[in-house]
Amino acid sequence: MGVLDRFDLTGQTAIITGAGTGLGREFARSLADAGCDIVGVGRRLEPIEEIGAEIRAKGRRFLALGGTDVTDSAQVNAMVERAVAEMGRIHVLINNAGGGSAGRGKTLPELTDEDWREGMDSNITSAFFCARAIVPHMEEQGGGRIINVSSGWGFRGGKNNFMYSISKGGVVQLTKALAITYAQAGIRSSCIVPGTFPRREDVERVAARGQMQPSGRAGFPEEIGPLALFLASPASDYLSGEAVLMDGGAIAAGVTPAGVAPVAEG
Ligand SMILES: NC(=O)c1ccc[n+]([C@@H]2O[C@H](COP(=O)([O-])OP(=O)(O)OC[C@H]3O[C@@H](n4cnc5c(N)ncnc54)[C@H](OP(=O)(O)O)[C@@H]3O)[C@@H](O)[C@H]2O)c1
Repeated sequence: MGVLDRFDLTGQTAIITGAGTGLGREFARSLADAGCDIVGVGRRLEPIEEIGAEIRAKGRRFLALGGTDVTDSAQVNAMVERAVAEMGRIHVLINNAGGGSAGRGKTLPELTDEDWREGMDSNITSAFFCARAIVPHMEEQGGGRIINVSSGWGFRGGKNNFMYSISKGGVVQLTKALAITYAQAGIRSSCIVPGTFPRREDVERVAARGQMQPSGRAGFPEEIGPLALFLASPASDYLSGEAVLMDGGAIAAGVTPAGVAPVAEG
């Protein structure tokens, strides 16, 4: 077997939450390029169908499960049940859905109970629900891979960015707890830690933030897809419980957009 064969996912199936946009779309593209069938999950159907059309054109199977809110455990359980019923064995789960808008910019006393719940639900409860729903199936099938998506904010404190930092830090710990608990069941768990990757609608703003980083630029979404493929494939069979940063060196440099503009010196 050559080394590239270890990235082959032919005949395997991955559930990807938030597959219709941004990084999730790139994860779906990369895994499908390696032969994987995809279950695309999100609340809106339209973006899921868009990436679904692209993936079906590559000759892969694609199940579009729009209308699924991953912060609702009943909907998550139904989503996993349907994915297994229609696609058979699920080999990979990528917990990508999430976001950083809840309570952003508010001081601690300004944060409401609702802000707290929204931030936690969006990033950590959702990943917990999906992992809890898929693990019995993966155990029964003799293994699987769960990939969570954190953020650089999960590694640093952000000024008035409580919800996102706390929930994304929790995602790293969920990764470790899953890895340790299910290692003997053949289930690996890892975590992607993206730095700054502009979405279509905020390319200029985020690209400017990238200039503060050692790389001097933000990441291109298509640069992060291969990392998901590596973590989803047999190429990383001995990697578990680990968070892998892809951030152009931002965390290594201690760079943090914390409300204090860094001065570029030497
Ligand atoms: N882009 C970056 O620079 C960056 C950096 C660090 C970390 N991240 C993380 O990477 C992940 C993807 O981010 P992105 O930048 O690609 O953002 P995005 O384009 O907003 O993608 C988020 C996706 O998740 C889905 N989603 C959100 N909440 C959901 C829910 N409750 N139920 C089901 N689906 C839900 C959204 O679809 P619907 O709205 O249709 O549900 C959307 O497709 C997030 O976890 C984010 O925190 C991104």
